[in-house]
Amino acid sequence: MKQVFADRIEGLQQSDIRRMSLECTKVDGINLGQGICDQPVEPIIKKAAIKAIQEDRSIYTRLDGIDELRHRIAGKVRDYNKVSCDADGEVIVNVGSTGSFVAASLALVNPGDEVILFSPFYGYHLNILKVCQATLKYITLRPPDWSYDAAALEVAFSKRTKFILVNTPSNPCGKVFTRDELAHIADLCKKHDALCVTDEIYEYILYDGRRHVSPGSLPGMEDRTITISGFSKTYAMTGWRLGYTVAPRPIAQKLAILNDLINVCAPSPLQHGVVAAFDLPESYYTNMRRDYQIKRDMTVAACREAGMTPYPPQGAYYMLADFGDLGFKDDQEAARVILDRSRVAVIPGSSFYPDPEDGRKQIRLCYAKKMPDLEEACRRIRTLRAVLA
Ligand SMILES: Cc1ncc(COP(=O)(O)O)c(C=O)c1O
Repeated sequence: MKQVFADRIEGLQQSDIRRMSLECTKVDGINLGQGICDQPVEPIIKKAAIKAIQEDRSIYTRLDGIDELRHRIAGKVRDYNKVSCDADGEVIVNVGSTGSFVAASLALVNPGDEVILFSPFYGYHLNILKVCQATLKYITLRPPDWSYDAAALEVAFSKRTKFILVNTPSNPCGKVFTRDELAHIADLCKKHDALCVTDEIYEYILYDGRRHVSPGSLPGMEDRTITISGFSKTYAMTGWRLGYTVAPRPIAQKLAILNDLINVCAPSPLQHGVVAAFDLPESYYTNMRRDYQIKRDMTVAACREAGMTPYPPQGAYYMLADFGDLGFKDDQEAARVILDRSRVAVIPGSSFYPDPEDGRKQIRLCYAKKMPDLEEACRRIRTLRAVLA
């Protein structure tokens, strides 16, 4: 038989994250694996979406999204991200920020183009870039603070660099890039005439008083940054599939056409519904941050009590932890045994590194869970050592 699949999907496999979720369901465990985020959606957003459905706002929208939503996004991006943008021509509403990143990668990457990716990485970033046949250059973030070698970054840039991918706050390690780090990245982008694609989906989830800095807000970066964000995480609506892209006009025009080709538009009534998110008070965001900080601290404490070395994240809601001397052969065994014995799903750390050895002693835990579930998961983690004895 002829080769069935295109070269571009060679090696593509079901992720450990999906696999662990399926296994977790089988044992009725608590899923600290996938970043599902099971908090309730704010009532004003739900009401607005229900109203839109009842009013039959059911037809295709403009390819870049409804006017009201694009204008509210542009206002937020100017105020919060300090990125200048025009709602007419520089903002696109996508099917999740995943849709934004797929469109950006398809639009920018020719096979063999170089893209710089920090590791540990978010698997979708890696796989989408692989499907686009990018040549990947990795920069390793090192625990406990997830800093990196600035000289190595300078060497990674070349005239073939199409873009550097920044994810701040990052999944899976929770790194929040500092202004200085981003200024250095900006200088390198300018020097090598490269673009910066930045995934800021966790932009409101920050700990210990940290501030979010958007690469697109730095001097000289407005014409070379594609800023991606979305509603999934901030408003606990991962299944609504709403995200957006902000890009300089000539790039945004092409991204909008690709958005049209891939999805036509994001779900119409949900676009109308999510407009209400912009009316939430500042306290919504401060409460969310406080809630996640409590959950982060609980998860850190539980892992320490179990004898692990957790690396407390600076933002987002995932944590990598070194399971150290708990006696597991490797990360796959650790995830399997923790699920079998404690019925808590976690993700093997090697899934997040180009060299799996870097993650062999790590697991990732996601604490975006309802408090009673997280409390029970932490209780089970704390007693892990006794359960394993
Ligand atoms: C870094 C990062 N970007 C994007 C996404 C997906 O976002 P969306 O639901 O908007 O597609 C996730 C989800 O886990 C993520 O961790």
